[in-house]
Amino acid sequence: MSTYENILIEEFDRVGLITLNRPKALNALNSALISELMEALFEFDNKDSIGTIVINGNERAFAAGADIKEMATASAVEMLKRDHISLFDRIQGIKKPVIAAVSGWCLGGGNELAMSCDMIVASESARFGQPEINIGVIPGAGGTQRLTRAVGKAVAMEMVLNNRTLTADEACQYGLVNRVVPVERYLDEAKQLAAEIAARAPLALRMGKEAVNNAFESFLRDGLSDERRAFYFLFASQDQKEGMQAFLEKRNAEWKGV
Ligand code: CAA
Repeated sequence: MSTYENILIEEFDRVGLITLNRPKALNALNSALISELMEALFEFDNKDSIGTIVINGNERAFAAGADIKEMATASAVEMLKRDHISLFDRIQGIKKPVIAAVSGWCLGGGNELAMSCDMIVASESARFGQPEINIGVIPGAGGTQRLTRAVGKAVAMEMVLNNRTLTADEACQYGLVNRVVPVERYLDEAKQLAAEIAARAPLALRMGKEAVNNAFESFLRDGLSDERRAFYFLFASQDQKEGMQAFLEKRNAEWKGV
Protein backbone atom coordinates (compact mmCIF):
# COMPACT_ATOMS: atom_id res chain seq x y z
CA MET A 1 0.00 0.00 0.00
CA SER A 2 1.16 3.55 -0.73
CA THR A 3 1.73 6.09 2.04
CA TYR A 4 -0.56 9.10 2.15
CA GLU A 5 -0.56 12.51 3.84
CA ASN A 6 -4.16 13.63 3.40
CA ILE A 7 -6.03 10.38 3.89
CA LEU A 8 -5.82 7.35 6.18
CA ILE A 9 -6.46 3.84 4.98
CA GLU A 10 -7.42 0.65 6.76
CA GLU A 11 -8.64 -2.82 5.77
CA PHE A 12 -10.99 -5.15 7.66
CA ASP A 13 -13.53 -7.87 6.75
CA ARG A 14 -13.00 -7.41 2.97
CA VAL A 15 -13.67 -3.67 3.38
CA GLY A 16 -11.25 -0.89 2.42
CA LEU A 17 -11.76 2.20 4.58
CA ILE A 18 -10.51 5.58 3.37
CA THR A 19 -10.67 8.46 5.87
CA LEU A 20 -10.30 12.00 4.56
CA ASN A 21 -7.79 13.57 6.90
CA ARG A 22 -7.55 17.36 6.69
CA PRO A 23 -9.62 18.02 9.82
CA LYS A 24 -8.37 21.58 10.37
CA ALA A 25 -9.70 22.58 6.94
CA LEU A 26 -12.92 20.56 7.41
CA ASN A 27 -11.53 18.10 4.85
CA ALA A 28 -11.60 20.70 2.07
CA LEU A 29 -10.76 18.82 -1.09
CA ASN A 30 -7.42 20.15 -2.34
CA SER A 31 -5.56 18.65 -5.27
CA ALA A 32 -3.26 16.53 -3.08
CA LEU A 33 -6.20 15.00 -1.19
CA ILE A 34 -8.14 14.28 -4.38
CA SER A 35 -5.11 12.59 -6.01
CA GLU A 36 -4.50 10.44 -2.93
CA LEU A 37 -8.18 9.56 -2.67
CA MET A 38 -8.27 8.43 -6.29
CA GLU A 39 -5.07 6.42 -5.89
CA ALA A 40 -6.42 4.64 -2.80
CA LEU A 41 -9.74 3.95 -4.50
CA PHE A 42 -8.02 2.37 -7.50
CA GLU A 43 -5.69 0.41 -5.25
CA PHE A 44 -8.64 -1.08 -3.31
CA ASP A 45 -10.60 -1.64 -6.51
CA ASN A 46 -7.78 -3.76 -7.91
CA LYS A 47 -7.31 -5.85 -4.78
CA ASP A 48 -9.05 -9.25 -4.70
CA SER A 49 -9.16 -9.28 -0.88
CA ILE A 50 -11.36 -6.15 -0.87
CA GLY A 51 -15.07 -6.34 -1.71
CA THR A 52 -16.37 -2.86 -0.83
CA ILE A 53 -14.94 0.56 -0.03
CA VAL A 54 -16.04 3.13 2.58
CA ILE A 55 -15.12 6.82 2.35
CA ASN A 56 -15.36 8.57 5.70
CA GLY A 57 -14.61 12.06 7.00
CA ASN A 58 -14.87 12.88 10.70
CA GLU A 59 -17.77 13.76 13.00
CA ARG A 60 -17.55 17.50 12.24
CA ALA A 61 -17.16 17.27 8.48
CA PHE A 62 -17.30 14.73 5.71
CA ALA A 63 -15.90 17.50 3.49
CA ALA A 64 -16.72 21.22 3.27
CA GLY A 65 -16.17 21.33 -0.48
CA ALA A 66 -13.39 22.06 -2.91
CA ASP A 67 -10.49 23.94 -1.31
CA ILE A 68 -11.41 27.60 -1.78
CA LYS A 69 -7.90 28.78 -0.83
CA GLU A 70 -6.41 26.70 -3.61
CA MET A 71 -8.73 27.96 -6.33
CA ALA A 72 -9.56 31.55 -5.23
CA THR A 73 -7.06 33.21 -7.56
CA ALA A 74 -6.98 30.60 -10.33
CA SER A 75 -7.78 31.58 -13.91
CA ALA A 76 -10.28 29.67 -16.00
CA VAL A 77 -7.43 28.19 -18.02
CA GLU A 78 -5.65 27.05 -14.85
CA MET A 79 -8.86 25.44 -13.58
CA LEU A 80 -9.32 23.68 -16.91
CA LYS A 81 -5.73 22.43 -16.92
CA ARG A 82 -5.95 21.18 -13.33
CA ASP A 83 -9.33 19.58 -14.07
CA HIS A 84 -9.56 17.89 -10.68
CA ILE A 85 -13.26 17.65 -11.08
CA SER A 86 -13.13 15.09 -13.87
CA LEU A 87 -11.52 12.72 -11.36
CA PHE A 88 -14.88 12.57 -9.60
CA ASP A 89 -16.42 10.95 -12.68
CA ARG A 90 -13.93 8.13 -12.30
CA ILE A 91 -15.40 7.17 -8.92
CA GLN A 92 -18.45 5.88 -10.74
CA GLY A 93 -16.06 3.71 -12.75
CA ILE A 94 -14.86 1.99 -9.55
CA LYS A 95 -16.12 -1.57 -9.96
CA LYS A 96 -16.72 -2.30 -6.27
CA PRO A 97 -19.52 -0.71 -4.25
CA VAL A 98 -18.43 2.53 -2.55
CA ILE A 99 -20.25 3.78 0.57
CA ALA A 100 -19.91 7.33 1.92
CA ALA A 101 -20.09 7.60 5.72
CA VAL A 102 -21.20 11.19 6.28
CA SER A 103 -21.27 13.22 9.48
CA GLY A 104 -21.31 17.00 9.87
CA TRP A 105 -20.71 19.25 6.88
CA CYS A 106 -21.17 17.66 3.49
CA LEU A 107 -20.96 20.69 1.23
CA GLY A 108 -20.14 21.59 -2.36
CA GLY A 109 -17.53 19.20 -3.71
CA GLY A 110 -17.98 17.17 -0.50
CA ASN A 111 -21.61 16.54 -1.31
CA GLU A 112 -20.65 15.84 -4.91
CA LEU A 113 -18.10 13.29 -3.69
CA ALA A 114 -20.72 11.62 -1.48
CA MET A 115 -23.17 11.55 -4.40
CA SER A 116 -20.54 9.91 -6.61
CA CYS A 117 -20.55 7.01 -4.17
CA ASP A 118 -23.15 4.24 -4.44
CA MET A 119 -24.74 4.66 -1.01
CA ILE A 120 -24.64 7.19 1.80
CA VAL A 121 -24.92 6.38 5.51
CA ALA A 122 -25.47 9.63 7.41
CA SER A 123 -25.19 10.63 11.04
CA GLU A 124 -27.99 12.70 12.54
CA SER A 125 -25.67 15.71 12.47
CA ALA A 126 -24.97 15.52 8.73
CA ARG A 127 -25.80 18.65 6.70
CA PHE A 128 -25.93 18.49 2.92
CA GLY A 129 -25.61 21.55 0.71
CA GLN A 130 -24.30 23.15 -2.45
CA PRO A 131 -23.22 26.58 -1.17
CA GLU A 132 -21.22 27.59 -4.28
CA ILE A 133 -23.69 30.42 -4.94
CA ASN A 134 -22.24 32.11 -1.81
CA ILE A 135 -18.83 32.37 -3.48
CA GLY A 136 -20.05 33.43 -6.91
CA VAL A 137 -20.00 30.11 -8.74
CA ILE A 138 -22.13 27.00 -9.23
CA PRO A 139 -21.44 23.33 -8.43
CA GLY A 140 -18.95 21.87 -10.88
CA ALA A 141 -18.71 18.18 -9.96
CA GLY A 142 -22.25 16.90 -10.32
CA GLY A 143 -24.10 19.18 -7.89
CA THR A 144 -26.60 20.25 -10.51
CA GLN A 145 -26.88 16.80 -12.15
CA ARG A 146 -26.59 14.00 -9.59
CA LEU A 147 -28.33 16.13 -6.97
CA THR A 148 -31.29 16.89 -9.23
CA ARG A 149 -31.65 13.23 -10.15
CA ALA A 150 -31.57 12.33 -6.44
CA VAL A 151 -33.80 14.97 -4.83
CA GLY A 152 -35.78 16.36 -7.78
CA LYS A 153 -35.86 19.80 -9.38
CA ALA A 154 -37.67 21.75 -6.65
CA VAL A 155 -35.26 20.96 -3.82
CA ALA A 156 -32.16 21.02 -6.07
CA MET A 157 -33.05 24.53 -7.28
CA GLU A 158 -33.30 25.81 -3.70
CA MET A 159 -30.00 24.18 -2.77
CA VAL A 160 -28.10 25.44 -5.82
CA LEU A 161 -29.68 28.90 -6.09
CA ASN A 162 -30.26 29.77 -2.44
CA ASN A 163 -27.85 27.64 -0.39
CA ARG A 164 -30.58 25.57 1.23
CA THR A 165 -28.97 22.90 3.37
CA LEU A 166 -30.70 19.61 4.09
CA THR A 167 -30.71 17.94 7.48
CA ALA A 168 -29.89 14.26 7.53
CA ASP A 169 -33.57 13.38 7.94
CA GLU A 170 -34.57 15.61 5.03
CA ALA A 171 -31.82 14.09 2.88
CA CYS A 172 -33.14 10.63 3.74
CA GLN A 173 -36.73 11.65 3.01
CA TYR A 174 -35.66 13.02 -0.42
CA GLY A 175 -33.72 9.86 -1.27
CA LEU A 176 -30.24 11.37 -1.14
CA VAL A 177 -29.08 9.09 1.68
CA ASN A 178 -29.80 5.46 2.54
CA ARG A 179 -30.13 5.72 6.30
CA VAL A 180 -29.63 8.05 9.25
CA VAL A 181 -28.16 6.89 12.57
CA PRO A 182 -26.91 8.58 15.76
CA VAL A 183 -23.51 10.28 15.42
CA GLU A 184 -21.73 7.76 17.63
CA ARG A 185 -22.90 4.90 15.40
CA TYR A 186 -22.69 6.24 11.85
CA LEU A 187 -19.24 4.87 11.03
CA ASP A 188 -19.93 1.45 12.54
CA GLU A 189 -23.20 1.33 10.60
CA ALA A 190 -21.40 2.15 7.33
CA LYS A 191 -18.68 -0.40 8.10
CA GLN A 192 -21.25 -3.07 8.90
CA LEU A 193 -23.21 -2.38 5.72
CA ALA A 194 -19.96 -2.49 3.73
CA ALA A 195 -18.89 -5.78 5.35
CA GLU A 196 -22.30 -7.34 4.67
CA ILE A 197 -22.14 -6.36 1.01
CA ALA A 198 -18.48 -7.39 0.72
CA ALA A 199 -19.44 -10.94 1.75
CA ARG A 200 -21.75 -11.28 -1.27
CA ALA A 201 -21.08 -12.72 -4.74
CA PRO A 202 -18.39 -10.43 -6.24
CA LEU A 203 -19.36 -10.73 -9.92
CA ALA A 204 -23.04 -10.17 -9.21
CA LEU A 205 -22.12 -7.10 -7.12
CA ARG A 206 -20.14 -5.69 -10.00
CA MET A 207 -22.91 -6.32 -12.53
CA GLY A 208 -25.59 -5.02 -10.16
CA LYS A 209 -23.72 -1.75 -9.53
CA GLU A 210 -23.14 -1.21 -13.23
CA ALA A 211 -26.77 -1.94 -14.06
CA VAL A 212 -28.21 0.45 -11.45
CA ASN A 213 -25.84 3.23 -12.51
CA ASN A 214 -26.84 2.56 -16.09
CA ALA A 215 -30.41 3.54 -15.21
CA PHE A 216 -29.17 7.16 -15.05
CA GLU A 217 -27.33 7.00 -18.33
CA SER A 218 -29.56 5.22 -20.81
CA PHE A 219 -33.05 4.94 -22.24
CA LEU A 220 -35.21 2.37 -20.43
CA ARG A 221 -35.16 -0.04 -23.39
CA ASP A 222 -31.33 0.01 -23.55
CA GLY A 223 -31.01 -0.26 -19.77
CA LEU A 224 -33.36 -3.25 -19.69
CA SER A 225 -31.52 -5.00 -22.48
CA ASP A 226 -28.10 -4.39 -20.82
CA GLU A 227 -29.53 -5.66 -17.53
CA ARG A 228 -30.82 -8.83 -19.21
CA ARG A 229 -27.45 -9.48 -20.88
CA ALA A 230 -25.67 -9.08 -17.51
CA PHE A 231 -28.19 -11.47 -15.91
CA TYR A 232 -27.56 -14.12 -18.59
CA PHE A 233 -23.80 -13.51 -18.41
CA LEU A 234 -23.78 -14.39 -14.72
CA PHE A 235 -24.91 -17.92 -15.68
CA ALA A 236 -21.36 -18.35 -17.02
CA SER A 237 -20.02 -17.91 -13.47
CA GLN A 238 -19.32 -20.64 -10.91
CA ASP A 239 -20.92 -18.40 -8.30
CA GLN A 240 -24.31 -18.65 -10.03
CA LYS A 241 -24.10 -22.46 -9.98
CA GLU A 242 -22.93 -22.40 -6.36
CA GLY A 243 -25.57 -19.85 -5.28
CA MET A 244 -28.51 -21.74 -6.77
CA GLN A 245 -27.20 -25.14 -5.65
CA ALA A 246 -26.68 -23.83 -2.11
CA PHE A 247 -30.27 -22.56 -2.08
CA LEU A 248 -31.56 -25.98 -3.16
CA GLU A 249 -29.39 -27.72 -0.56
CA LYS A 250 -30.48 -25.23 2.14
CA ARG A 251 -26.92 -24.17 2.98
CA ASN A 252 -24.90 -20.94 2.76
CA ALA A 253 -23.16 -20.34 -0.55
CA GLU A 254 -19.39 -20.04 -0.73
CA TRP A 255 -18.53 -17.33 -3.22
CA LYS A 256 -15.34 -17.53 -5.27
CA GLY A 257 -15.75 -14.51 -7.51
CA VAL A 258 -15.39 -16.64 -10.65
N1 CAA B 1 -11.98 25.42 1.42
C1 CAA B 1 -10.90 25.79 2.15
N2 CAA B 1 -10.94 25.92 3.49
C2 CAA B 1 -12.10 25.65 4.11
C3 CAA B 1 -13.26 25.27 3.41
C4 CAA B 1 -13.16 25.15 2.00
N3 CAA B 1 -14.19 24.75 1.24
N4 CAA B 1 -14.27 25.11 4.30
C5 CAA B 1 -13.75 25.36 5.51
N5 CAA B 1 -12.44 25.70 5.41
C6 CAA B 1 -11.52 26.06 6.49
C7 CAA B 1 -11.78 27.47 6.98
O1 CAA B 1 -11.12 28.41 6.13
C8 CAA B 1 -11.18 27.39 8.36
O2 CAA B 1 -9.77 27.48 8.23
P1 CAA B 1 -8.94 28.51 9.19
O3 CAA B 1 -9.14 27.94 10.58
O4 CAA B 1 -7.53 28.35 8.69
O5 CAA B 1 -9.53 29.84 9.01
C9 CAA B 1 -11.48 25.98 8.82
O6 CAA B 1 -11.77 25.24 7.62
C10 CAA B 1 -12.72 25.88 9.69
O7 CAA B 1 -13.79 26.52 9.03
P2 CAA B 1 -14.71 27.66 9.71
O8 CAA B 1 -13.92 28.41 10.72
O9 CAA B 1 -15.35 28.44 8.61
O10 CAA B 1 -15.78 26.74 10.47
P3 CAA B 1 -17.30 27.08 10.81
O11 CAA B 1 -17.75 25.99 11.70
O12 CAA B 1 -17.40 28.48 11.31
O13 CAA B 1 -18.07 27.01 9.41
C11 CAA B 1 -18.68 26.04 7.27
C12 CAA B 1 -18.19 25.79 8.73
C13 CAA B 1 -20.10 26.58 7.28
C14 CAA B 1 -18.61 24.70 6.56
C15 CAA B 1 -17.72 27.06 6.59
O14 CAA B 1 -16.38 26.66 6.79
C16 CAA B 1 -17.94 27.21 5.12
O15 CAA B 1 -18.87 27.86 4.70
N6 CAA B 1 -17.05 26.61 4.28
C17 CAA B 1 -17.09 26.76 2.85
C18 CAA B 1 -18.15 25.87 2.24
C19 CAA B 1 -18.22 26.07 0.74
O16 CAA B 1 -18.43 27.14 0.23
N7 CAA B 1 -18.02 24.96 -0.02
C20 CAA B 1 -18.06 24.98 -1.46
C21 CAA B 1 -16.69 25.12 -2.04
S1 CAA B 1 -16.70 25.33 -3.78
C22 CAA B 1 -16.90 23.78 -4.43
O17 CAA B 1 -16.98 22.80 -3.73
C23 CAA B 1 -16.92 23.75 -5.95
C24 CAA B 1 -17.30 22.43 -6.57
O18 CAA B 1 -18.46 22.19 -6.84
C25 CAA B 1 -16.29 21.47 -6.95
